[in-house]
Amino acid sequence: MARIPVIAGNWKMYKTRPEVKSTLEALRKLVDGVEGVEVVICPTATSLATAAEVLEGSTIRFGAQNVHWAAEGAFTGELSCAMLLDVGCQYVIIGHSERRQYFGETDETVSKRLTQALGTDLTPILCIGETLEEREADRVSDVVLGQLKRALAGLTEDQISRIIIAYEPVWAIGTGRTATPEIAQEVHSMIRTCLEQEYSSELAEGLRILYGGSVKPSNVAELMAQADIDGALVGGASLDAESFAQLVKY
Ligand code: PGA
Repeated sequence: MARIPVIAGNWKMYKTRPEVKSTLEALRKLVDGVEGVEVVICPTATSLATAAEVLEGSTIRFGAQNVHWAAEGAFTGELSCAMLLDVGCQYVIIGHSERRQYFGETDETVSKRLTQALGTDLTPILCIGETLEEREADRVSDVVLGQLKRALAGLTEDQISRIIIAYEPVWAIGTGRTATPEIAQEVHSMIRTCLEQEYSSELAEGLRILYGGSVKPSNVAELMAQADIDGALVGGASLDAESFAQLVKY
């Protein structure tokens, strides 16, 4: 089964609305209509409405960087799935390592957010990945598959089939230190095998698994050439329209 590749940009806490507008306008000129790849940009929450405006009629889609697990309620500072859908989001990043590291995100809250998002039309991009200490202690499969299983616990196979997984080794994020294609492929294949064992080969074969961590125009092709790498979740190199367009056209 052919898996459509996804190139997603995570703009983290960068860019004001005018900057979002000009970057997306430039990006439209460069990648609008490019076929065979799903292109997604996740700007900050304050710029989602701007993205909706600028991307009207574009093949570039957009999403949010986080979502709350309740439908609504007294949760100061949070955003619900309904709010993201209302502004036009189609995707939402869940469990990014920066949220796990700095904002108390746990496997339990990741699972709750995922469940909530899957109750709506949002496509979750679920992030998992080990730290350098965990890799050096030989705990990669333990940590990554543990995060995966706890995130997916309680979901039906049907629900899981709508998720995009992003393997992002924490030591490779924003460090310029990319996992080699071989290292990345090894973990991607481990994730797919786990999905096959826990669920079915049909599910495992259909799910997109993105790699994230210092992906740039100079290394994207060799990463994408790996059998189990179906796209990239990109931070730094997605901020510039030219560079992101090069990634999309890898
Ligand atoms: P990076 O970030 O591309 O800047 O390493 C990736 C990510 O955090 O998703």
